[in-house]
Amino acid sequence: MALVTSTEMFRRAYDEGYAIGAFNVNNMEIIQGITEAAKEERAPLILQVSSGARKYANHTYLMKLIEAAIIETDLPICMHLDHGDSYELCKSCIDGGFTSVMIDGSHLSFDENIVLTKRVVEYAHDRGVVVEGELGRLAGVEDDVNVSAEDSSYTDPDQVEEFVTRTGVDSLAIAIGTSHGAYKFKPGTNPRLRFDILEEVERRLPGFPIVLHGASSVIPEFVDMINSHGGNMPDAIGVPEDMLRKAASLAVCKINIDSDLRLAMTGTIRKYLAENPSHFDPRQYLKPARAAIKEMVRHKIVNVLGCNGKA
Ligand code: G3H
Ligand code: 13P
Ligand code: ZN
Repeated sequence: MALVTSTEMFRRAYDEGYAIGAFNVNNMEIIQGITEAAKEERAPLILQVSSGARKYANHTYLMKLIEAAIIETDLPICMHLDHGDSYELCKSCIDGGFTSVMIDGSHLSFDENIVLTKRVVEYAHDRGVVVEGELGRLAGVEDDVNVSAEDSSYTDPDQVEEFVTRTGVDSLAIAIGTSHGAYKFKPGTNPRLRFDILEEVERRLPGFPIVLHGASSVIPEFVDMINSHGGNMPDAIGVPEDMLRKAASLAVCKINIDSDLRLAMTGTIRKYLAENPSHFDPRQYLKPARAAIKEMVRHKIVNVLGCNGKA
């Protein structure tokens, strides 16, 4: 099997009320942990690469690791650029074999966002690649750009039809109260997402796949594991799983998860090294870290996304 686009994945996910997991990948162990879980659960997958990940690991290494995962799993896998911030970056990923790119013009004015997104769509569609756009602005950190809560803004449902029609995007990321990173909601407050906005967007764009960024649950087990083995993370609160399940049952077809992978990996490595202070072979601590990622991703696939058995 070769890399696929997300078109068929989203069509089925929309019709059947589940979501595809879009997991951020940075190295071999992360790719192996995610894809081993998906293989056992027969789940379609989106593996996404941020520009930071591409700088860290190199385009060719990530491409070849994902190709290896396809050989090992025989799963439909879509390789996606996460938060592309320029036409040139999107073009380079398209030319280099990605099957999906995100052009994130959410920091631009509405009209500038349309012009940039449309330009990427034209280049991508001519080459069989699909495009995700974004309207509305999430708070949090992406590639060292920190968007404060004051600068974030919910998606305006009045803009979505015009944006999709004028750009020709294949999916749309919207802002309904999630944010990137481990600190999504103020400690002591109840996490709240604007499902009214999601439902209104769905009404305006029937059948159109919506994307939810910043969708890690910030699993407490891993935060505790970090903090009880020398770490010092402040109270970290993520998106409750029941809200993610609800989003998946509505128009959300792609749920982005990165922070939970980072927490699973770091928590497990911290614990291993604290318990085995004389060990120094990276395989010894990367092996349980990969296993923790696998079980965490299995949990997401089966209990949150509902995409098990859909490959
Ligand atoms: O949305 C951002 C993702 O978590 C990727 O993070 O840019 O640090 O690789 P990164
Ligand atoms: P989290 O930080 O919640 O994992 O979000 C990841 C994301 O949206 C990647 O684009
Ligand atoms: Zn994101």
